[in-house]
Formats: sequence, C-alpha cells, structure tokens
Amino acid sequence: MIIIFFLCIGKCMEASLNSLLYEKTLMGDVQTFWKGFVLLCKIKVSLSPLCSQGLFGVPELSGPAGFQMAQHQALREAEFLVHKACTHPPGAVTVETFDQLSDSLCRVADLADFIKVAHPDAAFREAAERTCVEIGTLVEILNTNVDLCQSLKNLLGNEAVLATLDSDTRRVAELFMFDFEISGIHLDESKRSKAVALNVKLLDLYHEFLSGSQLPNAIDKQVLPEHIRHCFSIDGNRVQIGGLHADSPNELVREAAYKIFLYPNTSLLLCLDELLAGRHELATLVGYESFAHRALKGTMAKTPGKINRATSRDFKMMKEMKKKTHTTNPEVMPWDHAYLSSAIRTEMFNIDPSIYSPYFSLGACMEGLNRLFMQLVGVYFQAEQPKMGELWSEDVRKLAVVHETEGLLGYIYCDFFRRPDKPHQDCHFTIRGGRLREDGVYQLPVVVLMLSLPPPSGRTPSLLTPSMVENLFHEMGHAMHSMLGRTLYQHVTGTRCSTDFAEVPSILMEYFASDYRVLSQFARHYQTGEPLPENLVSRLCESKRVCSAADTQLQIFYAALDQVYHGKPQYRSTTDILREVQEKFYGLPYVHDTAWQLRFSHLVGYGAKYYSYLMSRAVASMVWRQCFLQDPFSRVMGEHYHREMLAHGGGKEPVLMVQGMLQKTPTIEDFVDALVLDLNANVKSPVL
Ligand SMILES: *[C@@H]1O[C@H](CO)[C@@H](O)[C@H](O)[C@H]1NC(C)=O
Ligand SMILES: [Zn+2]
Repeated sequence: MIIIFFLCIGKCMEASLNSLLYEKTLMGDVQTFWKGFVLLCKIKVSLSPLCSQGLFGVPELSGPAGFQMAQHQALREAEFLVHKACTHPPGAVTVETFDQLSDSLCRVADLADFIKVAHPDAAFREAAERTCVEIGTLVEILNTNVDLCQSLKNLLGNEAVLATLDSDTRRVAELFMFDFEISGIHLDESKRSKAVALNVKLLDLYHEFLSGSQLPNAIDKQVLPEHIRHCFSIDGNRVQIGGLHADSPNELVREAAYKIFLYPNTSLLLCLDELLAGRHELATLVGYESFAHRALKGTMAKTPGKINRATSRDFKMMKEMKKKTHTTNPEVMPWDHAYLSSAIRTEMFNIDPSIYSPYFSLGACMEGLNRLFMQLVGVYFQAEQPKMGELWSEDVRKLAVVHETEGLLGYIYCDFFRRPDKPHQDCHFTIRGGRLREDGVYQLPVVVLMLSLPPPSGRTPSLLTPSMVENLFHEMGHAMHSMLGRTLYQHVTGTRCSTDFAEVPSILMEYFASDYRVLSQFARHYQTGEPLPENLVSRLCESKRVCSAADTQLQIFYAALDQVYHGKPQYRSTTDILREVQEKFYGLPYVHDTAWQLRFSHLVGYGAKYYSYLMSRAVASMVWRQCFLQDPFSRVMGEHYHREMLAHGGGKEPVLMVQGMLQKTPTIEDFVDALVLDLNANVKSPVL
C-alpha cells in the first residue's frame, strides 16, 4: 500500500468563530479574539500538567521513545490483520481488512513522517525518522507477500463475490492490487527478489539525489569579481553558492549564481543516471514499457501553439525591459526570467507587499476562510483546546471543522508560524485518514497545515503578504479536501487521490483568493478597520498575469523534461536531453556547462507526473469559470462541488469527478484553452 504521502501545503491557525463572535466580527474583534485565544491556550496548558497526553493525543508519544512502542503496536496489529486477510473467505471483509492494515501502519508512518521534519526537538525527529524507515521496509515486505496478494486475487477473480461489492470497495481493491503489481508480485521468485532489491537500491538513490540537489556549490573566491563577492556566503577562501539569486537586480550576480549553482557535479550526474536506469529496469521488470507508462499521451506539451504565442509576447516584453537595465547582453537569459518579470510587474503596477499586508492579518484571513466555507458548504471552524503534550510547539493551533447539520468532520492542526529549524515550506500532511470503522463509527480525518508566516509581535498581529494569503487559501484547499472527504476507506481519504487531481481543490482556492468579492468580505486594515480598496485588488490580479505565459511555458518545459527522462532510455546524457527539451519547450537558451536537472528534486517525488500540476491548474480553471465565477458564494455550486468532487477523495476516478462537476468530458483542447484563458484574461493598461 502506498503509505508515504505528502503534498505541498501550508496552514493556518485561528479559531472558530462561534456564532456570537462570528456575527459581530470586525477586524479588531478578530484580532482580540485571536490574542485571547493564544493566551487561553497557554494558561490552560500550564494548568493541566497531570493529564499529559502524547503528540496528537496518541498516548505512547509523550516522549521520543514512544515511537518504538507505537511502531511495535502497529506491527502486532499488522500481523494479526495479515493473518485475517489470508484466512478469511473473499468478500468485502477482505478489502476492509486491507484498509485496516493500511490504516494501522499509516497512522504511525504518516505521523512520523510529519514529526521527522517539524518537531523542534531533534530526539523526536530522529526517533520518527527511524520509525519511517522501519515501517517503510515492512510495507515493502508486505507488498511482496504472496499469500496476502493471493487473498486479493481470490476476491478480484471471483465474479459472483465481486458483484456483491459496491463500486468504492471494488475500486479500493483494485488500487491495493495495483500496489502489489508494481512491486512485481506476479513475477517468479528470482525476478521478484530482483524487484525488491531494485526498490531498495532506488530508495538509496532517491536519498542521495535529494540531498545532493540541495547542496551548495563552492568556488574559489578569486574567480568572482570582488564587488559581487559580498552577495554570497564566504567560507575561508571559498564562496558557497546555494541558490540561483534569481531576484537579484545585479545581472552579474544572477549570472554567476546561475553558472556556479548549476555547474554539473559528476557524482550527482551519475546518481541521476542510475536512478533513471533503475526506474526503467523496475518498470520493464514488472511488465511496463517504461516508467512513464501512465503518462498522459496528450499532455499540454502536445498542443503548445496557443501558449507559445503568449510566451513570445512575454519574452518580447522582457527584452524591452532588459534594454532599460544598461546591460551588455541584450538577450534574455534563463537567469533573467524571474527578475525581469518582477521588474515589469513593478513598473506596471505598484504592488509592494507592504501596502497590502496591513489588510491581511492572519485573524482576518481565517475569518474570511471561515465565512467562505460557511457560505459554500455550511462548514465552520472552531478553536479546540489541545491537551497537554498534544502539540509539538506551543504556537500550533488546533481547529475542529464542523458541519452545520452533520457535526464534527475532523481536525486541522495549524502550524503556521516561522520557527528556527522548521522547514521553510508550505505543506499539508495527512496524519490520520478518514474511514468507516468496523464498529460503524466514522474515524475522523486529522491533518496538519504547515506554513511559514511571520509570528505576531507585540501589538502587531501576524500580517500576510498577498502571496502568503494565496498560499494560505491554497493549503486550506487541501485541508478541506481532507475534511470533506467521506470515503469508506482511508486508503483513498481526502488528498490520497491521483496525483493529477490532488492540486485541483487547492488551486481552485487561489481563484477565490484573487476575487475582490471574496477579499472584500474580510480584508480590513488591522489598525483602522478600513476595507481593502478595490483598485489595489485589481492591480494585484492584473500583475499576476504579467509574464504568466512565460511561467507556464517554464512549467511545460519541466513537465516535458520529466516525461522524457522517464520514457524509453535514450543512451545519452541527461544534460543533452535537457538542452534539447529546453530549446523545444522553453525558448530561453541553454547555458553551456550547466545542469539544471540536478536541482530538479521533484524528479524523485513526482517521477513522470510533474505534468499533474498543469493538469490540476487547467481543471481548477474550468471549475472556477463554469461554477463560481458568476457567484463565488453560491451554496448550490458549493454543495455540487462538495458532492461531486471533495466527498470522494481518491475513491472515484478523477475523470468521473470532473465529468460530474462540469457535466461534460473535457478534451485536451479544453484543458489547454483553460490555461490560455488564464494567461490572457483582460490584460489592460495598468492603473497607476
Ligand atoms: C558532488 O556532490 C557530492 C554529493 O552528491 C558531494 O559530496 C561532492 O562534494 C560534490 N562535488 C563537488 C565538486 O562539489
Ligand atoms: Zn498544493
């Protein structure tokens, strides 16, 4: 079973506005409410030291050693469930038992997966890391357990019994079977052990590639012109370059960073070659043509004409802008893309984040989300008092998500504020999946949203820049996907859906976050209470379209590169392939002696599925236009969306969900058109 699951997410904190507070909410009140809430939590926590619980209320996890206990407990349960699955006659019980088995392992592994990155205490992180590895190994073993697989085969091969199963149960059975198949279970003994060995080797290669892709490159400081050395970190005689410095106004800095940071590292090139070769070998061993077997035949890259035209327009604008920068090289180079588009944005629209952030206190934004979900699907947030030991850091907030008639839906832990040692990455983590338990009670989903917001300081609340607001809405989209999913099985809970659908609910939320009707519901100056002026919002929205075709083109290039790398082996260097794909799908020249692919860490996690992001964006764009553009608060559409998409998690084929939602089957042209519409929508002269 697929256990390790993560999404880019971030998260928020705030509180449920019970009805009273909700009614009279003004910016001021929300802020007070939030502050009061912070205080309340601290006091209560310090007052109840006796009933200490573990992390997330798991009793064993009150100390790092608890991971061992939780893990052993899970292993014992797993043993029992494996036996049950193998001995019980085939039926719905088989699938239920598989799901229980997956649940008992996921519950520990997913939690550990989060703790290993986010806990401030290294001892917890290390214990969690060990648990992840051990459960991961066990999952590999289970995926090649012939008896276990046979019990599923007996079910899937028995027409009479199959006919008695509902469609969700059948689909989950097939998904479990798929996990067995990609592990090579159907192979003979020698091939199977080869598949296991390959999987183990690949895990090592993933680790090596991921860590290598993050390492800085160093160079003798003499090589760099003296006047730009101070822009980098100097270590004795060496300059360390750990990023692209893509926003630097100094072209020389950008160029130097690009060439040095992307300078090919021979051992990492080798690692990538081995990784891709290993994936191909594994795929062919278990019977597929290539690792990218599931790649869409008609991805966006196939019909790039319309996007190309918009991109040429963007590159022309960048070139004009570059002329104004007194450069010696008039060509737009890859290191100019980000800087020039932001320079154009700044020239056309004054969108300094500090103009916006006073209107976007975290309290206001949470209030806005609360209202929006109330209007769309009748769901609100309620601040929950955490138990002693339940949280990993005291700035984390726990929200109960409540449906107005159905009651409690699940919990969101909001780990929103920057902390030293906390990864600077917005992320959604499933901690526990939803499922219907054997006793008929629904196991409520639990998730964490991790963001990197500025903590409140003194009398100033946490103030969000427009891009933080967008991220908050995005991550909340993931969280609500988790909360509103009501799948029978946790194997397909909420965001555990196919990769090309996973970002639909989150990207859809970005459309809400860019709509004035939505923003004006909650954005108020935190000191004066003044509403956010409409022209600020239209400026912001229009600025987002500046050079967005070029950005989309870049994503198409990445997606195409990922596909080619995972297609049939080409017996030439990954750099040669990069150069060719870049020239075909991007438009800015390849730079000699660079190897951007060694920084493309998503190759590991997405492997042949990087196109999913564009796919999700296209679907979200269609859903927004067809269902919410006219009225972003429509309860009818909100309920339709809840019923047709969110409720199913991964329990239904994405294409069926899209059909249900849009009442038609989109073609590849429709997908491309949806992306193009976003690029072109009324680019008019700037308001200055
Ligand atoms: C190349 O990368 C490896 C790790 O992947 C690192 O140990 C080594 O120092 C790097 N070599 C150079 C020359 O940077
Ligand atoms: Zn996301």
